[in-house]
Amino acid sequence: MSGRRVPVGIVGAGPAGLLLSHLLHLAGIASVVLESRSREEVEGTIRAGVLEQGTVDLLTQSGVGERLHREAFFHRGVYLRFGGATHHIDMESLTGGKRVTVYAQHEVIRDLVAARLAAGGDIRFGVSGVALEGIDTDRPALRFDEGGSARRIDCDFIAGCDGSHGVSRHSLPEGALQRYERVYPFGWFGILVEAPPSSDELIYASHDRGFALVSTRSPTLQRMYLQCDPHDDVANWPDDRIWSELEKRLETHDGWTPKQGPITQKVIVGMRSLVHEPMRHGRLFLAGDAAHVVPPTGAKGLNLAAADVRVLARALEAYYGAKDETRLVRYSGDCLRRVWKGQRFSWSLTTLLHRSQSDTPFDRRRQLAELDYITTSRAAMTSLAENYVGLPFE
Ligand code: FAD
Ligand code: PHB
Repeated sequence: MSGRRVPVGIVGAGPAGLLLSHLLHLAGIASVVLESRSREEVEGTIRAGVLEQGTVDLLTQSGVGERLHREAFFHRGVYLRFGGATHHIDMESLTGGKRVTVYAQHEVIRDLVAARLAAGGDIRFGVSGVALEGIDTDRPALRFDEGGSARRIDCDFIAGCDGSHGVSRHSLPEGALQRYERVYPFGWFGILVEAPPSSDELIYASHDRGFALVSTRSPTLQRMYLQCDPHDDVANWPDDRIWSELEKRLETHDGWTPKQGPITQKVIVGMRSLVHEPMRHGRLFLAGDAAHVVPPTGAKGLNLAAADVRVLARALEAYYGAKDETRLVRYSGDCLRRVWKGQRFSWSLTTLLHRSQSDTPFDRRRQLAELDYITTSRAAMTSLAENYVGLPFE
C-alpha cells in the first residue's frame, strides 16, 4: 500500500469539493480530491442552473469567472406566472444591483477542474471504496482503491463534500448527528430541449395542474421543469404529453407558448429538505449536500455549498496561517445560520408554487393570495428578491 500526507483530504469533486480545493490552493494549502466518478461523468451531469450574486463574486474574485462572464446569462429578475398573467420581479432594482446569473453547474465544474489541473492540483477521478479513518484523532486518513491498488492518504483534516449519498457522513459514530428532514409528495420532471429561449428571464408558474419552470442553458438549449409524481417513470411521458402539460401550466392571456424542439434529456428528481447538525465532527467537516439538501425551487443548493466552503477555506487559512482555531470551532454554527435561512426560503417557495394532493381549496386560495401579495407589495417582492439573489455573507 502506498501512502502520503496532505493537509486537507477532500471527498467528492462536486462544486463544494472542487471550489474548496481551489480556494485552499489560493491560500497556499495543499489538498487532494477523491472522486468516485470519471471526469467525463462529473463534467457532464446536468443539475443546477442559477447562481447567487455572492457565488458569482466568489468565482470571479478567485480567478475562475472568465468563461462565466463570457457565456452566462445575466437576468434582472424572474417572472412569476399565475392566473394567466405574468408578473416581473425586478430583483436588480429591488436589491441595489444584484443579478440572477444562469450558468450551469457542470460549466462551473469544468472551470474549476481546469483551474485545479492547470495549477497542478491533485484530483483522483474514478477511485472506489473511499473510507475515512481516525476522524476523532488529529491524524485522520483516507483509504481508497485506485486502479486496483489500495492507497492511504494521511491528512490534518478531511472535508466531506461527497453529496447527499456520500460516505463521509456515514463515518460518524451513531447518534453524532441530528437529522431534520421533510420529504415532499412531489418531484420535478426535467427536460433539456434543443430550441432557442422561450423567455428572456426564468418563468416560475403556479397552476391548478401544478408547478412549471422555464429556465435556460444556452442560446440553443433550454431547461424546463414540471411538477410530477416523484415515483413516476419517464417512460410515461412521451414528448406530446410533456408539451401539452407545459402549455397548460404556462398558459397566458396573451397567447405565449414555449418554443418546442427535440427533447434530449428527461429526468425525474425527488424533493426534500434535509439538514444534519453539527456540520463538524472531530477532524471531519461536512460541506454542501453532504450536510444539507434543499428542494430545487429556490435554486439554493449549489450556492449553499459554495458558501460553506468559503467559510471552511477561511477557517483553514486562519488555522495554518495564524494557528488560530476559532473559525474552525465556529464553522458549523456559522454555516448553519445561512443554511437554515436557505432552507426556509426553499421550503416557502416550494409550498407556495406546488400543488399537493392533500391541499384543500382553502390552501389554493391562500397560495393565490400570497402570489397576489408578492407581486403587488414592494416589501414582499424585496424579501423574495433578496433571498433569491442571495443574502449577504456575514
Ligand atoms: P454534489 O454535486 O452531489 O457532489 C458530490 C460529489 O461527490 C459527486 O461528484 C459524487 O460523485 C462524489 N461522491 C459521492 N460519494 C462518493 C464517494 N463515496 N467517494 C468519492 N466521491 C464520492 N442548486 C443551485 O444552487 N441552483 C440551482 O438552480 C439548482 N438547481 C437544481 C436542479 C436540480 C434538478 C437538482 C437535482 C439540483 C439543483 N441544485 C441547484 C442543487 C445542486 O445541484 C446541489 O446542491 C449541488 O450539486 C451540491 O454540490 P455538492 O458539491 O455539495 O454535492
Ligand atoms: C435550472 O435551470 O436548472 C434551475 C433554475 C431555477 C431553479 C432550479 C433549477 O429554481
